[in-house]
Amino acid sequence: MLTNRKVYLDHNATTPIHPEVKKAMVAAMATFGNPSSLHEYGRVARLLVEDSRAALASFIGADPKEVVFMGSGSEANNTVLNLFSCAGFRKCEVVGCSLGKKEVITTKIEHPCVLESAACLAERGAVVHFVGVDRYGKINLDEFKQKLSENTGLISIMMANNEIGTLQDVKELCRISHAKGALFHTDAVQAVGKIPVNVKDLDVDYLSLSGHKIYGPKGIGALYVKKGVQFCPFICGGHQEHGRRAGTENTLGIVGLAKAIEMRKKEMIGEHERVLKLKMLLKQGIEENIPDVQFNGHPTDSLAGTLNVSFLGAEGEAILLYLDLEGIAVSTGSACASASLDPSHVLTATGISQEQAHGSIRMSLGRETSLEDINYVIKKLIKVIKHVRKISTVASGDRHG
Ligand SMILES: Cc1ncc(COP(=O)(O)O)c(C=O)c1O
Repeated sequence: MLTNRKVYLDHNATTPIHPEVKKAMVAAMATFGNPSSLHEYGRVARLLVEDSRAALASFIGADPKEVVFMGSGSEANNTVLNLFSCAGFRKCEVVGCSLGKKEVITTKIEHPCVLESAACLAERGAVVHFVGVDRYGKINLDEFKQKLSENTGLISIMMANNEIGTLQDVKELCRISHAKGALFHTDAVQAVGKIPVNVKDLDVDYLSLSGHKIYGPKGIGALYVKKGVQFCPFICGGHQEHGRRAGTENTLGIVGLAKAIEMRKKEMIGEHERVLKLKMLLKQGIEENIPDVQFNGHPTDSLAGTLNVSFLGAEGEAILLYLDLEGIAVSTGSACASASLDPSHVLTATGISQEQAHGSIRMSLGRETSLEDINYVIKKLIKVIKHVRKISTVASGDRHG
């Protein structure tokens, strides 16, 4: 039976457009000029792009010239990983990245757009190390230090994990990496706009972010590229973005991203406390009412709104579908991998069993999540888990063989 009540707990997959972002984008539709055109139509569009760049740069502590607009977070990440196979990058002396540097380090829990780009590099002759994580998703520091050497050219480690919310100490990892002369990239798609991020304080060389995770539009992202650090365009054939990303600028998306950033600046801090409180209530409601559960991700050093939980003896996909019938949207694994029935690579890397990984769901709260929503979700979860466990093939033992 379908319900009229809707509770959206999938903010790590994407977020609803902020009303102010929508307003700004609708207004910007009147500006149709090509920002590269020299006439007035073009100049007006150029102003929108550059004002937006300045707003974004100021939010992350960068210089506007260090911000390159991209089509998505995935494109920003691909661009950085692709730098490694670029001859110019391998020869770069400014940052000590000589031709001899053939190694890349990343982790086992990165977003697929990093993992698969890294795997491509390996096919093209790079030595790629996928460093493991502990039970809570924190990088194994000893293993990281062991893999890091004078041969390491590039390191890519995410700031906040999209499935379990665990935060990495990017500042410290970057410091260790720089001491060996390696360049450092962080995928901050799930972090920017949720926790304070300052590129100068972190001292990262590259940082990726995305519009649709912070109540902005889809199809717009950005890459921070530290001044003086080597860069090769991933998309070639145009002078846009100072020759760093070809293609006519997505003016509407850029305006939407800048407005989303402006709203994050106003709302982020207060929202963090509120969302964290709601998540703890949700966690408590589950702990007190549902037996055989296990929470995944770091208990404290994680995104305020992300709760990943395994329900033993139940299938995550079945839980998702029954919750959907109650109007509640959650996810299993990452949004782009959730059509796959393979257990999440992130949960597997934390060392939990296949059965626990199969029985996990991710609930990610956001700016519109209310206490009533949380109480409703707890009530429905109790019913759904009871039902799914009864019908689950896992519970009947079919999958134990
Ligand atoms: C950690 C992380 N990196 C990268 C991406 C890709 O961003 P986009 O959807 O903008 O391509 C996502 C999206 O799920 C993500 O969560």
